[in-house]
Amino acid sequence: MNFESDIIRLKNSIDTALNNIYDSGPNIIREPIYHILSGGKRIRPILCLITSLALSGNIKTSLDAAVAIELLHNFTLIHDDIMDNDELRHGNVTIHKKWDESIAILSGDAMLAIALVKLGKIDNKYQSIVNNKFNKALIEVCEGQALDLEFQNKDIVSKEDYLSMIDKKTAYMIGLSSEIGAVLANADKSVQNKLRYYGMSIGRAFQIQDDLLEVISDKDKMGKTLKSDFLLNKKTYLNIQAQLVDSNKVNEYINIAQEKFDVGFNLYKKFLEDNNIINNTKKVIDDTLMLADSILDDINMDKEYLYKYTQLILKRKS
Ligand code: IPE
Ligand code: IPE
Ligand code: MG
Ligand code: MG
Repeated sequence: MNFESDIIRLKNSIDTALNNIYDSGPNIIREPIYHILSGGKRIRPILCLITSLALSGNIKTSLDAAVAIELLHNFTLIHDDIMDNDELRHGNVTIHKKWDESIAILSGDAMLAIALVKLGKIDNKYQSIVNNKFNKALIEVCEGQALDLEFQNKDIVSKEDYLSMIDKKTAYMIGLSSEIGAVLANADKSVQNKLRYYGMSIGRAFQIQDDLLEVISDKDKMGKTLKSDFLLNKKTYLNIQAQLVDSNKVNEYINIAQEKFDVGFNLYKKFLEDNNIINNTKKVIDDTLMLADSILDDINMDKEYLYKYTQLILKRKS
């Protein structure tokens, strides 16, 4: 067994299942669905599958649920790109830009429905528990996205409110992935709960890291547009700290960026560096991932791949 090659093998099984996920229906739904599914790291379904494996479950039992979670994730991306007015996703033009908003809304809706159909294929024994958890996570994402929108119009947002927003928009779905992996491996309830907390902590770190990468990485590496957080005054882990230091300056940089993006953005970046905000953010990501690993400490299972998975997230470049 080798972690890297096993991850590739699991990703391939997920991709194969996604390859013929929706082969009928109108072109204006089918083509956008395959368009967005042609890229993506698949971190949520991979987490679901390695959690099951760590608890001696098997891939066959968990694959449908893992695929359903990836479809749920891509549905949220399609609608998120409309909300954030972004142009690039998975290295390709976003659906609402390549086609139009109506087609993006519709293909997102269809994708969510396809996810629910896929979920209906899991073993009857787990059907209702998994459905309930899935639906709960879906509501959390909608609430998180609503808070994300609300916070754009505020200058000061507390760290607690920011964390609650990212827990909802991102961490719950990653927590759902590990939790369902545990459910489908027939783990005890206490183990399911711990693995949900593990996934949620990974998810929190993942979103803070995403906030950071949007400032220090570039669009070619990430395969997505990196301007919207700043232009829309999104409450990222960096923005909430910067706003606290000097709200007027941050807003001035955002105004400059509306006309000349690079000028405003470079001023903001320098401001983040001068105020040690980049380093503080890196430290919080490290600490949150360490916390995630510590949740695993007292679970009796084969933890090697989950620890390695945490490291994979820590080192991600896209
Ligand atoms: C993007 O998630 C949305 C966030 C929660 C930041 P991913 O980075 O996992 O999306 P993929 O891999 O491009 O699908
Ligand atoms: C991530 O939103 C959460 C969801 C998509 C539900 P973001 O807007 O922060 O993520 P990116 O940067 O577009 O991937
Ligand atoms: Mg976005
Ligand atoms: Mg967004």
